[in-house]
Amino acid sequence: MGHAIANGLVLIGTGSSVRLDRELDQAVKTMVEVSQAQPLTQRERLHVSAVETFAKGNFSRACELWEQILWDHPTDMLALKFSHDAYFYLGYQEQMRDSVARIYPFWTPSIPLSSYVKGIYSFGLMETNFYDKAEKLAKEALSINPTDAWSVHTIAHIHEMKAEIKDGVEFMQSSEAHWKDSDMLACHNYWHWALYLIEKGEYEAALTIYDNHVFPSLKASGAMLDVVDSCSMLYRLQMEGVSVGERWQEVLPITRKHSRDHILLFNDAHFLMASLGARDSGTTQELLTTLQDASKAPGENCQHLLAREVGLPLCQALVEAENGNPGRVLELLLPIRYRIIQIGGSNAQRDIFNQLLIHAALNCTSGVHKNVARNLLMERDALKPNSPLTQRLIRKAAAVHLLQ
Ligand SMILES: *[C@@H]1O[C@H](CO)[C@@H](O)[C@H](O)[C@H]1NC(C)=O
Ligand SMILES: *[C@@H]1O[C@H](CO)[C@@H](O)[C@H](O)[C@H]1NC(C)=O
Ligand SMILES: [Fe+2]
Repeated sequence: MGHAIANGLVLIGTGSSVRLDRELDQAVKTMVEVSQAQPLTQRERLHVSAVETFAKGNFSRACELWEQILWDHPTDMLALKFSHDAYFYLGYQEQMRDSVARIYPFWTPSIPLSSYVKGIYSFGLMETNFYDKAEKLAKEALSINPTDAWSVHTIAHIHEMKAEIKDGVEFMQSSEAHWKDSDMLACHNYWHWALYLIEKGEYEAALTIYDNHVFPSLKASGAMLDVVDSCSMLYRLQMEGVSVGERWQEVLPITRKHSRDHILLFNDAHFLMASLGARDSGTTQELLTTLQDASKAPGENCQHLLAREVGLPLCQALVEAENGNPGRVLELLLPIRYRIIQIGGSNAQRDIFNQLLIHAALNCTSGVHKNVARNLLMERDALKPNSPLTQRLIRKAAAVHLLQ
């Protein structure tokens, strides 16, 4: 189990792949060999098999194996957390929720981590728009353990989705002392805090969070969540017209090392933001070419299979936006916009692609796409009323006579 836990944690972190990292590849092989050389329980065998399957990139099959464990061992935290993260990477929001719903009653208060399970459950509920139920569970968890950064995170998401900017900022401020040292999630919670500030148009304050917390965390850890948070923040600020100075140049050396990984398309899109932002066309080309190659390679890697229809058009759209071809951005993104969820990530994280689509549409002031921005903005406003960011975009659209 030590092998399964260690390898599983590295793989779920999505910072190294068995394709490129020889040490990790060997560690996974060793895990399988060790497991074959001794009598294991069925549960242990499934754990080894699930990690091995995840390493090959067949995430949904790995989830089936973790679920097999949970049928009989509903308090297996490892199977629960690994499947939760893998569903997240797959964009399987309902599975992310239901997987926890099935085992939740077994986590009675005396079982260690039972309050943490409330936070995990609340995240799936929130992503499937059960905001009230999600908030209730996250608050229960926080009343038991105020330092539960996952439950803080769910509440941050709820305020984000409902455009409750003031409440969100106040919540982050009042709870900061409890989660600021929470390892991986601290940086991500700061990212959420900064999103409220971007919504409000307080760009300097957002950049201060970036400079004081998000980027320092990335520099110290190199963790993928910190990478995507950093890229996402800078890209969003840029779309708002904010100059981010030399910050892309600082991010690039960290993302560049991952250009050939192709573990998650979601990560790839964020690496690309960095190489585009830093105007490093060599790195951009390397990422695109190797992603194209991966998409053609045989095997059962779900991300590589999805690259052709979703990942590559999405990456190409980022390139076209940079090259000043907003019409091309629309041609690439409009047909796949309802499939982008398949690259995983949260609704809040993937909103960056919807914002990109709207910004590109705003730049199409004539021709076949001239009313697209207006319609997309109506949709956005209907789903998330009272968003200052949406209101700004609507004013911008009106200014270019797209809205009468
Ligand atoms: C993943 O594994 C399942 C079951 O073994 C298989 O049916 C499926 O085709 C695999 N996925 C991919 C993308 O190959
Ligand atoms: C829209 O046009 C502005 C101004 O030329 C440019 O800075 C921006 O990158 C463009 N955005 C997209 C998505 O096309
Ligand atoms: Fe989040």
